Amino acid sequence: MPSPKKPETLRSQRWYGPDDLRSFGHRSRTKQMGLHRDEFVGKPVIGIINTWNEMNTCHTHFPQRVQDVKRGVLAAGGFPVELPAMSLGEQLMKPTAMMYRNFLAMEVEELLRSYPIDGAVLMGGCDKTTPGVLMGAISMNLPCIYLPGGAMLRGHWRGEILGSGTDVWKYWDDRRSGKLDEKSWFEIEDGIARSPGTCMTMGTAATMMSMADALGMSLPGASSIPAVDSNHNRMASLSGRRAVELVWEDIKPTDILTEKAIENAIVVQMAIGGSTNGIIHLTAIARRAGIPLDLERFDKISQGIPLLANLKPSGKYVMEDFYYAGGLLALMKQLEARLHLEIPTINGKTVLENLAGAEVFNPDVIRTFDQPVMQAGGTAILRGSLAPNGAVIKPTAAEERLWKHRGPALVFKDIRDLKARVDSDDLEVTPDSVLVLQNAGPIGAPGMPEWGQLPVPKKLLDQGFRDIVCISDARMSGTSYGACVLHVSPESALGGPLALVRDGDLIELDIENRRLDLLVPEAELKTRRQQWHPPEAKASRGYAKLYIQHVTQAHEGCDFDFLQGEPGETPEPDIF
Ligand code: FES
Repeated sequence: MPSPKKPETLRSQRWYGPDDLRSFGHRSRTKQMGLHRDEFVGKPVIGIINTWNEMNTCHTHFPQRVQDVKRGVLAAGGFPVELPAMSLGEQLMKPTAMMYRNFLAMEVEELLRSYPIDGAVLMGGCDKTTPGVLMGAISMNLPCIYLPGGAMLRGHWRGEILGSGTDVWKYWDDRRSGKLDEKSWFEIEDGIARSPGTCMTMGTAATMMSMADALGMSLPGASSIPAVDSNHNRMASLSGRRAVELVWEDIKPTDILTEKAIENAIVVQMAIGGSTNGIIHLTAIARRAGIPLDLERFDKISQGIPLLANLKPSGKYVMEDFYYAGGLLALMKQLEARLHLEIPTINGKTVLENLAGAEVFNPDVIRTFDQPVMQAGGTAILRGSLAPNGAVIKPTAAEERLWKHRGPALVFKDIRDLKARVDSDDLEVTPDSVLVLQNAGPIGAPGMPEWGQLPVPKKLLDQGFRDIVCISDARMSGTSYGACVLHVSPESALGGPLALVRDGDLIELDIENRRLDLLVPEAELKTRRQQWHPPEAKASRGYAKLYIQHVTQAHEGCDFDFLQGEPGETPEPDIF
């Protein structure tokens, strides 16, 4: 175990401790804020990474939560400082918040490095904020705890429970096919997001909060507490307290994020029917922690893990119901036989100790192995001639008749082409068609937006079809559903096989055998490859250019190549 810290060995003492001119400056300017010397010198300085702004609609409770965290830090004898970091609001950020996940990770790492910080509370929730804060903190490797923002309350409309995203897609199809009038549509708009907090379906936000919890990086069970529940305030305060203790105990992310912890998170991801985005983010998190993680590991670990959480988009309920049913700890209790139970977590206890006494209070929401929502786990990894480096699909979100499918490709060269043609009356589409979207990957889009749930063409909607096989190098929202093959790697902008597909080519999807194949002779593909030209670069300057030049592919986590490396590897800043 790491050796305990003493006041004089705190990292912040490098700034505040010495009797020299520089330290005089550090102390006097901290006192500028009206503080006494003994409020911060020799005390753990806890940076509260606050991913709040008024465009991130899911984090509107964060200003209040910061106060709760500060209360906890002060009660434990630490010195809390709020460090605002770029907030990634999934709904309003364009082209996609994913493009800025690495930006947030860089900011978090450098904030923690450049200031006199001893430990941190990492506030995240809305999709990319959770991996962003974790990735940055891992690379810095200071003692820290993750504080999940929590999900919003259930949505309501005319006696029906609405789920974020999931029900939007459903009712949007009704709206497009003329079954839902404008008044109803506006009522849904009023009722679907009723409180602070993240999407309350098992989308990417709830997935990533749950996975951070399963990794052992938050207080146990914290991820299931609704954002506006007073238990959330208490959890925030306790997280602040624990951050101070972590500094004294010198427990760092690398003490928690072991290979076994990563495997636990994968097991949980499958049992909750987690977002496919979780695969990319967990890969990036693991690699930051120095743990090589490839897609095969997801597939191997997921074998035999059924879907236990009956939550939208794969099931019936939402996160508020999950919390009242016992939350993540109750779900993990069902998985005990498949989890590594002896490993430590951020509260100083093992997984086994944290699960003691966890109970299911609603067996329809949290199922058992004997009565799962579905036998198939959450995600399948596909390989084949169309995706040599892998692709993913969420079988639980697709109609079962499409799990094995062969059909002719209908190709859209980019998102604009898709928007322009998908609803046209003369689109040559049949229920057997396989929709292919090109140039929507990490480099091609750029940023790998959530365009992967391709709309069912209106022509088919009018015939009553609600699902069709679609394939892209994009991601899809965790709240989405459909037979969507995603994350095809290598992406089409790099000349991967996806770039070579033409209208009418036969494509075969076989989820049971984990295959995705383009049934075109190799000689023909070779000719097409020779004729292929890379698309024009989407950026000539700035962050987008940096992104395009350095982002890795989906199966590698979409991190920047230059951010990979051992945790804590970058030297501490010189203080002169
Ligand atoms: Fe923030 Fe869904 S938009 S979690």
